[in-house]
Amino acid sequence: MTEARLGLPNLGFGVGLRTTHYPHILKHKPDVDWFEIISENYMDSGGRPRQVLEQIVEQYKVVMHGVSLSIGSTDPLNFEYLGKLKTLAEWTNAAWISDHVCWTGVNGLNGHDLLPLPYNEETLRHVVSRIKTAQDFLERPLVLENPSTYVTFTDSTMSEWDFVTRMAEESDCGLLLDVNNVYVSCFNHDLDPEDFIRSLPHERIVQFHLAGHTDCGTHIIDTHDNFVVDKVWELYQLAHKLTGGVSTLLEWDAQIPDFDVVHGEVLKARDLIQDGSVTLDTQSRADADSVASDDPAQGPRRSATVPQPAVFVAAEVE
Ligand SMILES: [Fe+2]
Repeated sequence: MTEARLGLPNLGFGVGLRTTHYPHILKHKPDVDWFEIISENYMDSGGRPRQVLEQIVEQYKVVMHGVSLSIGSTDPLNFEYLGKLKTLAEWTNAAWISDHVCWTGVNGLNGHDLLPLPYNEETLRHVVSRIKTAQDFLERPLVLENPSTYVTFTDSTMSEWDFVTRMAEESDCGLLLDVNNVYVSCFNHDLDPEDFIRSLPHERIVQFHLAGHTDCGTHIIDTHDNFVVDKVWELYQLAHKLTGGVSTLLEWDAQIPDFDVVHGEVLKARDLIQDGSVTLDTQSRADADSVASDDPAQGPRRSATVPQPAVFVAAEVE
C-alpha cells in the first residue's frame, strides 16, 4: 500500500511566489507556511530573482512548479532542462518538483501552453516511461498536475481520471490535484467534477492547487485572475476529506491584487477545513466587490478582455 502523500510532508497553506509581491514579502516577512516557485523563473537567471529567492529559502519552505517538462511530448526528454531542475531543487532544498500532465511543444519548440493529451494506452505507455526516466534522473518522485482543458480527442479511450490514476500507479509518481482545473475541465466537457475527484488514488495526492477562473457562459477559461468560486471551494472540501489533508497552494497570475488579498484566500481554505467558519455563498462575492472597488482602474474582475475563444471549445480534435 502506498504511503500517504508518498511520505512527503503536509506543508500547510502556501502562496505562489510572484515578482510583484517581492517587496512586500522581503519587508514584512508574512506568516506564510510555504511558497511555490515557478522553476523556469529561477533556473537560468542570476541577479535579483535569485537574490530574492535566496532570502525566501532562508525563511520559508519552497516547492518547485514547472511548466516546461512536456512529459507528454514525442520529443526526447530534455536532459539539459532536467539537470537545471535538479540543481535548482538542491539549491532551494525544494520539498518536491511538480509539473503538468501535458505537452508544451514538439520539434524543439516550446509553445508555452499546457496542451492536453489523448487518454489511451499508447499515450499511457509513453508518459509512464518518460516519468520513470525523469524520476531516476532527478532522484525523487515527480508530482504531476491535471491541466485545464478545452478540447478532447477522438483517440481517447479512457477518462482523464482513469488515465491519471494508472499513470501515477504505474510510474510511482505523485499527483498535484488542481481543484479549479477539475472544475474547469469538467464544465467544458460536461463531466461530473465529484466523480473526477472521487476516482483518483487519494494516497498519491501530494498537493492541491486553488485558483480563480473566468466563466464565459458556454465555457470556462482558467485565467487565475480572480477569487476561488464557491463550487471549487466545495470540491476542495471533498478533496480534503478524501485525502486527509495535503499541502494547499493558491495561484493568482493575472490582475494580481495585494499580497494580503492572495494570502487571505488561502487562509480561507484553512478556515474552511478547520472549522467550516466561512460562509461560502457570500464570502467570495464580498471579497470580489472589495477588491474591485479598491482599484477601479482594473475594471470589472470578470475580465471583458478575455477573448471569446471558439478555438477553445471545439468539442473534438481528430
Ligand atoms: Fe494549477
